[in-house]
Amino acid sequence: MCGIVGYVGGKEAQPILIDCLKRLEYRGYDSAGIAVIGDGIQVYKTGGEIAALEAGMPTMKGSAGIAHTRWATQGRPTTENAHPFEGCEGKVAIVHNGIISNFMDLRESLAAEGHEFSSETDTEVFAHMVEAELNSGDLLTAVRKSLKLVEGTYAFAVVADGRDEVVAARCESPLVVGLGNGENFLASDVTALLKYTNRVVYILDGEVVRITKDSVTIVDAEGKQVTRNPERIEWSMEDAEKGGYPHFMLKEIFEQPAAIHESLLGRIGAVDGDEPFITGNSFSSVKIVACGTSYNAGLVGKYIIEELVGIPATVQISSEYRYSAAARENPLVVLITQSGETLDTIAAAREARKRGNSTVAIVNVMGSAITREVDHVIYTRAGPEIGVAATKTFVTQLTALYLLALELGSKGRVLTAQAKHNIVSQLRNLPRAVQDVLNQADTIEAVAKKYSEARDMFFIGRNIHYPIAMEAALKTKEISYIHGEGYPAGELKHGPLALLSKDSPVIAIVSRDHTYDKMIGNISEVSARDSPVIAVASEDDTEIGKFADDVIYLRNIPSLFSPVPVIVALQLWAYYLAKERGCSIDKPRNIAKTVTVE
Ligand code: G6P
Repeated sequence: MCGIVGYVGGKEAQPILIDCLKRLEYRGYDSAGIAVIGDGIQVYKTGGEIAALEAGMPTMKGSAGIAHTRWATQGRPTTENAHPFEGCEGKVAIVHNGIISNFMDLRESLAAEGHEFSSETDTEVFAHMVEAELNSGDLLTAVRKSLKLVEGTYAFAVVADGRDEVVAARCESPLVVGLGNGENFLASDVTALLKYTNRVVYILDGEVVRITKDSVTIVDAEGKQVTRNPERIEWSMEDAEKGGYPHFMLKEIFEQPAAIHESLLGRIGAVDGDEPFITGNSFSSVKIVACGTSYNAGLVGKYIIEELVGIPATVQISSEYRYSAAARENPLVVLITQSGETLDTIAAAREARKRGNSTVAIVNVMGSAITREVDHVIYTRAGPEIGVAATKTFVTQLTALYLLALELGSKGRVLTAQAKHNIVSQLRNLPRAVQDVLNQADTIEAVAKKYSEARDMFFIGRNIHYPIAMEAALKTKEISYIHGEGYPAGELKHGPLALLSKDSPVIAIVSRDHTYDKMIGNISEVSARDSPVIAVASEDDTEIGKFADDVIYLRNIPSLFSPVPVIVALQLWAYYLAKERGCSIDKPRNIAKTVTVE
């Protein structure tokens, strides 16, 4: 997985390409490179982050070019394996996001024809293939013909010596064209382009596009011209910037009241409309499919749906669902993905359709790949999320799940008018409950600092807060590198107790509901092993202070809705742990925000 950009226009390409590329750094930061068409093809690439590229590259004159930031999949993250790649004759340069699965075969036959390779990557073969084709035609045709031999996933961008154009192609890796005045752009993600334009055209699988200074030509795999109207992106440049916060993650945590509000906007009334929102085959169960944080949102969704709709809900990791046996039931399949580009989840959507199930995607990025693979789309409207650790996209996924359950419960006549009224008022209160948590950020920071040297942490919850314990553990491990595990509190005695000691703090989510007494019992089991206990509890809980070493008090709201403020408190917890430990918060090591490989 990588980020690619392209530019053709009347200005110097180099600074624009670097500027756009920096906004894609969340997609990978193992190595980076740039190619500019000027006096020949000028290429510079290096291992490390984009800052290293910027520091080392010479000035490159020219008004067309491509650039790349890499997250290694095939070949180590070295300068040799960095993109762009050139053919033997140095007539073309290419960048690629994806995996060419048949590259070994292609490489062998190219080598037999005398081509020499400089890297371990799958990508390099394509540079040689396009260069060979280019001898007999134009660049767009050369790319289109070369693609016929390629198997796998890709977004490619290609430049050729002496031509002020960029040609790009897409198959299962994101690619968008940005339209300017006297200039045009290409990128893996619209956030890279927002400073320059908000008019974009999404490129679809199998298409090849050629951009020049003042034209955009899209053709299908057979070379037939495709017409598509541009879309206007409402995200502002400021949306995509840090807005004064030290990290995108903190900014995004603080944007959550607004994000939830935005997610609810105009939708609460809509669930009472006559038109069924989810149509298609009748279903008597729900299956939620997702990866990472989106999977944890799905686990919370199971509790929400079972409580509000009264039908069974199961949750499965996308890569597992794909290869599972199709059950005899006919569930509504809900795919959750903030990016809409996670390949495993897209493949799961296809599988669900193959099984004849109705499909709904809960997704943040408009026009992303998954939106074309499902029957219905619920946008979470969280705005661009740049921090690798998902925060506002998670709480808006939960918001979307409440809305979906409300819709299904209403249409299925399970919810009384009074119940609906109560749910709606709880949803409307969520932004305020989250704001209350944010107002306590300093308190949470002070508690987190006390425990920032721990090597292991356990997070425990019961019922709907069990998945929140898992999400808190995930946030903690991914950004602070403290080993974190989320457990149903009742399971501690079946293994994890063996690991507890005074050096392994336990964070307990304590809810004022039917699980309260049992949780107090679990906390006592932990204290008996000398582990410090940090409770996240209701502000009206006057007892908890006797059992826990530290308490983070939150406003008391019904358990069905408290996952939202509780996770916000624990996102802050993870953030402040990572800050205290001096970690790279927005770009944690070894992980990337969008995983477009299987
Ligand atoms: C990556 C990210 C996670 C994210 C997961 C699923 O692993 O690092 O934060 O939850 O992908 O992404 P999606 O876009 O499908 O929600």
